[in-house]
Amino acid sequence: MPKTLYIETVGCQMNMLDSELVVASLRRQGYELVDSPKQAGTILFNTCSVREHAEEKIYSALGRLKHAKRYNPDKVIGVLGCMAQNHQKTVFERAPYVDLVVGPGQLHQVPQLIEEVRAGSGRQLEVSLERQGGSRDKVADSFESFDPLRSPEMRPSPYQAFVRIQIGCDKFCTYCIVPKVRGPEQGRSPREIIAEAEQLANEGCREITLLGQTVNSYSYTDGGKTTRLSDLLYQLSDIDGLDRLKFVTSYPRDMTDDLLEAVRTLPKASHYLHVPAQSGSDEILTRMKRGYTVGEYREMMARIRQTIPDAAVTSDFIVGFCGETDEDFQKTVDLVREGRFKNSFIFKYSERPGTKGAERMADDVPEAVKKQRNNELLAIQNAICEEDNETRIGCQFEVLVEGLSKSATKQGQDDAPQVQLTGRDNWDRIVVFQGNRRLIGRLVQVTIYDANAHTLFGEVVTDHVGPELYSLSS
Ligand code: SAH
Ligand code: SF4
Ligand code: F3S
Repeated sequence: MPKTLYIETVGCQMNMLDSELVVASLRRQGYELVDSPKQAGTILFNTCSVREHAEEKIYSALGRLKHAKRYNPDKVIGVLGCMAQNHQKTVFERAPYVDLVVGPGQLHQVPQLIEEVRAGSGRQLEVSLERQGGSRDKVADSFESFDPLRSPEMRPSPYQAFVRIQIGCDKFCTYCIVPKVRGPEQGRSPREIIAEAEQLANEGCREITLLGQTVNSYSYTDGGKTTRLSDLLYQLSDIDGLDRLKFVTSYPRDMTDDLLEAVRTLPKASHYLHVPAQSGSDEILTRMKRGYTVGEYREMMARIRQTIPDAAVTSDFIVGFCGETDEDFQKTVDLVREGRFKNSFIFKYSERPGTKGAERMADDVPEAVKKQRNNELLAIQNAICEEDNETRIGCQFEVLVEGLSKSATKQGQDDAPQVQLTGRDNWDRIVVFQGNRRLIGRLVQVTIYDANAHTLFGEVVTDHVGPELYSLSS
């Protein structure tokens, strides 16, 4: 069977980066990407365990492959990432035709494991140690970071890249599976991070997003010298060719003044912070073991607004956590109203076996109530998004052009000289506008003429750009 690969990715940016690197390593072995499982000799799912729904979706997708595997026993089916680490052998029990279960700490082995399946060695299971499965160092070593050297032609966008600076998490919020499936928190060496960023900049990359589960807790000590996220931002800012730096996701308690000061002073740092609150009630935050009070979160927001007055702050909220009363929920509503977040990701609590939440607290908020609270919070946040976006009509922003807009891609406007383009401003807001495709990968000035809750619509400012860009945008 030809070396054809189909991969489906769910979950967070960490997973998107992992998939990119797995695909690159397989392409180096001669694999070609195809658009559907039907055409593929190898089918991989890079999975997420953060909510039950994410796992069930993968089991349904696997269920749909049962017959394909019966008629084509040569097809190799693999489950990678967080659910592989979480369920391990159970994946084989629920879907006996899966050949490969590989945790996030073993992704470097994927090409070789596929070879072993093909050579007839049978099912392959490679996962990291459990958090209690040995000394901290041993467990940490078993979660190896997968950050091979990248080649430019294998990156999804030449202008943007994720760069991992930290793996794992040690916060153990009681609802969350991530510390279990991603292992102990480990910072990557600044030397490696800078080298990767320099290489990316040399290849034409203009925007880098630094990734970590609690990215602002980043710390790396070597020879008595400790590097923090703020230090990294200063060092990365010196790299020629890079225009924008972002980092996600931040932990409220670690939003230190040195970091805010770095974001304020460095022209390349986006004024965008993703710092989830999770709840507006102290009782719930204590039960979640988030490590801060709502008062402390408000104090952090005040410091952000004081240091970076125009900062766009995004948050996450979980509704219907164990014991959440109407009063608790009302306090979350108050925080969302007051926070005027650029956006909020809102989730219904999903009990995760293996977490302290599942072991010690009853998932006692009925599904209908969770749903109602979810919708109510979403409506409030959407109204805020719309109001705030409307105030931007008439303003001009610098936009890094990412590519064709969703609708242009759907319509296959591949040959038209003028296409609908999409990009982001310095606050991570999505801006859609008409322009020449050669603007992709450039910074352009765009004036906003319309807006909805999640998108700004604009037109390229032709009289504020140099003659070269003028001819490109006309
Ligand atoms: N590392 C990030 C978040 C990782 S998970 C951080 O700490 O901010 C992304 C989001 O999923 C979380 O912020 C939380 O809002 C949500 N989430 C995590 N576990 C969940 C669960 N069991 N049920 C519902 N939502 C959950
Ligand atoms: Fe999960 Fe909490 Fe760690 Fe975020 S900080 S990954 S929510 S345990
Ligand atoms: Fe999901 Fe794993 Fe990310 S559980 S949210 S893919 S770290």
